Amino acid sequence: MINNYNLLKQSINLGGVTIKNRIVSSPISTNMATEDGSVTENLINYFSNIAANDIGMVTVGATSVSEEGGDASNGMHIGKNIHLNGLTKLASSINEQGSTAAIQIFHVGAQGNTFYSKKRVVGPSKYIVPDIGIEAEVLSIDEIIKIENEFCEGVIQAFDSGFKIVEMHLGHGYLLHEFMSAHMNRREDEYGGSKENRLKIVKNIFNKIEKKSKHAIKNIGARISADDFIEKGLDLIENKELINFLDSKKIAYYSVTAGIYETAKQKYLKMKEGSYWEYANNLKKMTQTPIIAQGNITSLELGEMILRKNMSDMIGMAQALIADPALASKSFKGEEEKIIPCLAHLKVGTCHRCRYLKQKDLSFECITPSSWDKNKSHNSSKNKKESFLKMLEKLKDNIANEKLENIEKIQKNFIDNI
Ligand SMILES: Cc1cc2nc3c(=O)[nH]c(=O)nc-3n(C[C@H](O)[C@H](O)[C@H](O)COP(=O)(O)O)c2cc1C
Ligand code: SF4
Repeated sequence: MINNYNLLKQSINLGGVTIKNRIVSSPISTNMATEDGSVTENLINYFSNIAANDIGMVTVGATSVSEEGGDASNGMHIGKNIHLNGLTKLASSINEQGSTAAIQIFHVGAQGNTFYSKKRVVGPSKYIVPDIGIEAEVLSIDEIIKIENEFCEGVIQAFDSGFKIVEMHLGHGYLLHEFMSAHMNRREDEYGGSKENRLKIVKNIFNKIEKKSKHAIKNIGARISADDFIEKGLDLIENKELINFLDSKKIAYYSVTAGIYETAKQKYLKMKEGSYWEYANNLKKMTQTPIIAQGNITSLELGEMILRKNMSDMIGMAQALIADPALASKSFKGEEEKIIPCLAHLKVGTCHRCRYLKQKDLSFECITPSSWDKNKSHNSSKNKKESFLKMLEKLKDNIANEKLENIEKIQKNFIDNI
């Protein structure tokens, strides 16, 4: 049956910004910035190529408000004069394609890793991510206030650079999430203890932004956790006060996510089951603010179904667009069979390459041909394309027949031969 994707093709208004359709490129960090966190040509190539392929809003991934807030050797940073020029180029390269440029800002907090960031790891309280093993240093009140100001400056610089939407990262166990979670925040001062105190840093940041620019708030979205899968963590019920506060500020949207580093396994299993769309659906019943559902959305058919069931107002995709940035334009042309799938979406455990960039010092490259390196994509001769498609069929056969031990070999061979 031909799918017209009528719901996905509708425009939507986010805080006065018209997004041309309901498809969002979810935030992804690519570890492709310079060492001082500035934008590179590769970043511009990557995100503008996604933007050129019928995506309504492209969200540049976790961009740190300070050096200490970064999580990788080559993560993006925001807030200093040196960042303005590159960010301006990046935003306009996305906007010029008729898409809307959005940027997510964050501070890694206690989930940081000195080995990659070369900075100390800080958090609301002493806390160790089991897989990382570094104990976070406890932030002083002065340091917390400095971070609030850095968030405020980051947001203002993002809008000054031409990003039309800023997404505040309040999920995935990063610093702002940590303050809100009783699991990670064990402070006994005004920033810990009661729920009101744990929300203080987030409220202060939004209030400070509002003071600087009354209009900015309505173009800020928030990525929030619907379930941390851990005792004393956050879920939608625990987040009720946060949601009431953000609703009162009339923010642009919520993007619904789940999990922290400590609970990554549970997170992927739940995501695979489609639970993330259920979380979006539940949040939709709690608020009038537009919702982005995301997590394991592998095709526009699935996205259209989620909108038809009124589970969310928009849909976000990350890995499906890494594997094939032209997924939406191919689907709109009725060429779904030409879409190159993400292997992890075909079967859990088959590929983690892009997910562990930071931990493994990998370059940002999908098993499928990369879209950021213009030379490489332009070089892909007919022969290479054919060998790629053969390889992909082989991979799919192996996945279908559960011959998982072969997959890594084929992948390696594949990457070496692109
Ligand atoms: C390479 C990569 C980088 C990511 N970077 C971010 C990020 O910077 N911020 C964020 O909130 N989520 C990030 N994510 C998570 C995605 O936004 C998304 O929530 C997750 O991949 C599930 O959606 P999917 O099934 O469409 O990929 C990243 C995911 C990948 C694969
Ligand atoms: S690198 Fe692997 S997990 Fe990432 S998008 Fe490509 S196929 Fe999917």
